[in-house]
Amino acid sequence: MTKTIKIGLLGLGTVGGGVPKILEAQAEKIKQSTGVEIVVAKGLVRDEAEKALRKTQFEIELTTNYDDIVEDEEIDIIIELIGKLEPARTFISRALKAGKHVVTANKDLLAQHGLELIELAGKNKVDLYYEASVAGGIPILRTLANSLADDGITKVQGIVNGTTNYMLTKMVEEGQSYEEALAKAQELGFAESDPTNDVDGIDAAYKMVILTQFAYGMNIQLEDVARRGIRHVSIDDVKMGQKLGYVIKLVGETSLLSDGVAAEVAPMLVPVQHPLAAIKNEMNAVFVESMGIGESMYYGPGAGSLPTATSIVADVVQIAKNIQSDTTGVPFNPYHLATKLAKDTQIKGKYYFAIKTPDRKGQILKLAEIFTKYDASFEQVLQQKANGEHARVVAISHTITNAQFKAIKAEIEQVEGFKLINTLRVLGK
Ligand code: HSE
Repeated sequence: MTKTIKIGLLGLGTVGGGVPKILEAQAEKIKQSTGVEIVVAKGLVRDEAEKALRKTQFEIELTTNYDDIVEDEEIDIIIELIGKLEPARTFISRALKAGKHVVTANKDLLAQHGLELIELAGKNKVDLYYEASVAGGIPILRTLANSLADDGITKVQGIVNGTTNYMLTKMVEEGQSYEEALAKAQELGFAESDPTNDVDGIDAAYKMVILTQFAYGMNIQLEDVARRGIRHVSIDDVKMGQKLGYVIKLVGETSLLSDGVAAEVAPMLVPVQHPLAAIKNEMNAVFVESMGIGESMYYGPGAGSLPTATSIVADVVQIAKNIQSDTTGVPFNPYHLATKLAKDTQIKGKYYFAIKTPDRKGQILKLAEIFTKYDASFEQVLQQKANGEHARVVAISHTITNAQFKAIKAEIEQVEGFKLINTLRVLGK
């Protein structure tokens, strides 16, 4: 008789609801590749009202009490899809201590308490997998941990937040307002319950913490990710970017520099010919630079019921294989190095400066003097909207260090009559 592996499913919403569908649709394929049958034995719901609703949708035993799942000796794997820190952290810790394998899509939790949970899984010789926590439907973590295990990764750049990518696409291509675009993203179901995490770049920063761990084996903290969201992106910057050959995207980047790692999430000007410029709407992509492969890009949906559930079930399938071969308890990413953060003098980039100046002689000269003082030079300079009173000057620097950028920015802010409207990173060397 075929062995059965039983799952306890915490959360039966958009993603949780996709899990039984994938297990059913691919039952034969999963059975052949694992040698076992995998079934959802119990589901955890919030309250009696949700229980009544889910009863009409799923043929799964439902409970409002987590003890019914974690204390059930027949359950081998717990899938956590509640999200946020608590009670998810407690539930996962209890599951691991009870000797159950865990699959989760919880990026908030993994980015903030990942180390503690990974250690707990190791101690109890169980698996903890979280492929769906970064770029939902793209199998990027397994790719980094397995397929690129022999490659020296130097940079990972990603459009890893579907909500902001959707919003920026609609703002750029359809002239939608920020509010209209956000409302539509919420309606379509890819925004977080509190979209602050999306628009302020926090969700993308969580994902960069996890990607840094997989790319370089280093455990950076959320605070180590330099972070700016998209609230201050104006339609003027979008149009100016287009005129200069760029498209604005919220990009997450983690780079391995000579003295350590540097991670950032910010709206960046992406050259139109860069592969990331083509990623539209809610789609995600992760662009990797590595010594062996060179450049590679992984593209797909970053959220949604079936794409995310597919990544979750792929983790379950891996655990089933590990159970069968008695190889559980190895970390999802076994690669570890001492964490080192790069210094400002090593972090480099090109920068866009938009400045409102008086419409008088010598303004660009003042700007040139500041750049020269800090040993920087212009790649592009453009003046627009001179109306006898004010002008808008836009300058893009050649590659400079973070320290040079900060010094130039601070000095521009001191010039009488200048108003620094915005600065943006410009992708490229
Ligand atoms: N709010 C996230 C996004 C969902 O928009 O990408 C997936 O993590």
